[in-house]
Amino acid sequence: MSDTSSESDTHSGGLEPPVLRGGWPILGHLLELRSDPIGLFSRVREECGDVGEMNFAGSRVVLLSGEEAQEAFFRGDEEQLDQAAAYPFMTPIFGEGVVFDASPEQRRQAMKNQSLKAPMMRHHAEGIASETRRMMTRLGDSGEIDALDFFSELTIYTSSGCLIGRQFREELTPEYFKIFYELEKGTDALAYVNPNLPLPSFWARDRARRRMVGLLTEVFERRRMNSESERELFDVLLSLRDEEGLPRYPIDVITGMFISMMFAGHHTTSGTAAWTLIEMLRNPSVMSGVESELQTLYADSREVSFQALRDIPLLEGTIKETLRLHPPLIVLMREVQWDFHYRHWTIKKGKKVAVSPSLSNRMPESFPDPERFDPSRYESGREEDSQVFSWIPFGAGRHKCVGSQFAMIQLKAIFSTLLLDYEFELAQPPESYQNDHSKMVVQLQKPCRIRYRRRSHSSSL
Ligand code: HEM
Repeated sequence: MSDTSSESDTHSGGLEPPVLRGGWPILGHLLELRSDPIGLFSRVREECGDVGEMNFAGSRVVLLSGEEAQEAFFRGDEEQLDQAAAYPFMTPIFGEGVVFDASPEQRRQAMKNQSLKAPMMRHHAEGIASETRRMMTRLGDSGEIDALDFFSELTIYTSSGCLIGRQFREELTPEYFKIFYELEKGTDALAYVNPNLPLPSFWARDRARRRMVGLLTEVFERRRMNSESERELFDVLLSLRDEEGLPRYPIDVITGMFISMMFAGHHTTSGTAAWTLIEMLRNPSVMSGVESELQTLYADSREVSFQALRDIPLLEGTIKETLRLHPPLIVLMREVQWDFHYRHWTIKKGKKVAVSPSLSNRMPESFPDPERFDPSRYESGREEDSQVFSWIPFGAGRHKCVGSQFAMIQLKAIFSTLLLDYEFELAQPPESYQNDHSKMVVQLQKPCRIRYRRRSHSSSL
């Protein structure tokens, strides 16, 4: 183990950040990142303060923590702090030329997805509620679900229906959520060494992507042959030709677009849905409060419309509190393109800077009694989420999540539907529900079983 702490080297008029103690030769702190990332980030803050450097197999990552340092990160110049270069584990998933290989401007254009605009939200609410009912009808009146699989599958259908098109959604089968599971599992931090190392999880990732190309090829062929099918986003993109008459976007690129449109919103929303349910079941008074809130709200009409979803304060506070304690993205990174200065520190070109939502969302100076699950933090007068550089499950600044409103609508529609008609119960000890932090995309650890039973008053769906 090496001990390389240094605060004294002066470069370009600033101090180089202190380097976290410990770490292995060559791999540095990479193994700690793969086994206990949140413990690692807390150790950086405890041992180095607001600015501390980690070493991931030669990749130097400087963690900025505390409200002021995080503000500097989020307000950083977009060209100087490059987001794309910081996530090497995403390139094999999206494919060359898609999203993270594109320029910042190309990325912004791609993200200006019409379906995320406010007027479209009205159409989404009912679609999401009906998808949720459809899943529950398939499952029957009572039984057990695996929370990870259930919400992963549900959010594949809701996201594809809302973001891509209803007909395209009808083509999707449960195999798609299994493919996404392998893609998400393929985000091992060893990608910082090389995203194509001979690892079983990388092989599974590449197999899953190839299978996705195969499945989508069949979907589009079927749709092309069917003269009655309405042309949706990808049908149009696939039909475009370049000057030589060749497809403008080959199927591999279309697959990458599909994965990239779904990826950012999939594991994030499904993980949050699963944790929201788990936290409500761990905190029965919160669950009964949310249930009565929904019963009052939907007393006259069971229609889960956009209007109905506008104001559900306790459910919304519960989701926000879940996001605070279980943010799906535990670390946000940027690569420094030219020396970055923060107070008396200089972070040299080529290093990465990072902020951790998991660490920030539990800082006692911003969130009193931070381990306590307390949805009343968001009530008027407290509004702890108004600390825009500390309450950061959706990030902040220029790259703040573009899907946050859609995610909230989605989560509120899912729980309005589920909790009105079903009762749930933990099928395991409350503390046994944990996240698996061995990959950069965090997922619930299996088993994560939950029992459900249709309420006796509930009408048949
Ligand atoms: C609970 C659900 C969600 C959470 C917690 C979440 C979290 C985040 C965070 C933390 C970022 C900032 C990343 C960074 O700074 O590097 C981000 C960015 C992004 N999110 Fe989300 N997200 C969620 C849902 C969604 C959904 C549903 C969509 C799309 C439909 C979406 C699309 C995006 C996109 C495209 C970006 C990149 C924005 C940019 O770089 O300018 N997210 N999200």
